Amino acid sequence: MHKSILFVCLGNICRSPIAEGMFRHIAAQRNLLDQFTIDSAGLGSWHIGHPPDERAQTAMRMRGIDISGLRGRRITPADFEKFDLILAMDRANRDALLKFAPKDGRDKVRLLMDYAPNLCVHEIPDPFFGKNNGFAYVCELVDAACRGLLVSLTVRPPLQATSMVRPLASLKG
Ligand code: 4NP
Repeated sequence: MHKSILFVCLGNICRSPIAEGMFRHIAAQRNLLDQFTIDSAGLGSWHIGHPPDERAQTAMRMRGIDISGLRGRRITPADFEKFDLILAMDRANRDALLKFAPKDGRDKVRLLMDYAPNLCVHEIPDPFFGKNNGFAYVCELVDAACRGLLVSLTVRPPLQATSMVRPLASLKG
């Protein structure tokens, strides 16, 4: 079933374009790109029309992923109708999204890191005011979460899972 996913951060030039590019890349590797609409947006308006931060582009290029063609945009009320899932990079983003969302759109808002529970990291830190290595760390977190997200959206348990397990008694004789 087709799913639409929007990744959201503050500026839409660091974390959310990384997440958009990463999820697109992972879905394409598995030949699943046609099952998804994938986009990203920012809560602020500072970087509308801007390409991703050079440091984000470089960190992604080191993984063989080109995000240079993406452009910043600001989230709109229509996004809550268009997208099935709206994934925030940190709690501040999530809380701002919950305030901005129409009542019936709030269920769509989650933290991206919810999809990598084993890491026990709940937020993707804003790398904008830090050094380059912050971007490599963002890529690591986003990579793990996007893999978990893809599994959660594509793997279905078998309908008759229990019937595949033979009761112990039937093995005996
Ligand atoms: P992002 O990082 O939310 O991951 O895109 C930021 C980019 C720009 C600004 C803040 C965060 N800014 O204040 O301009």
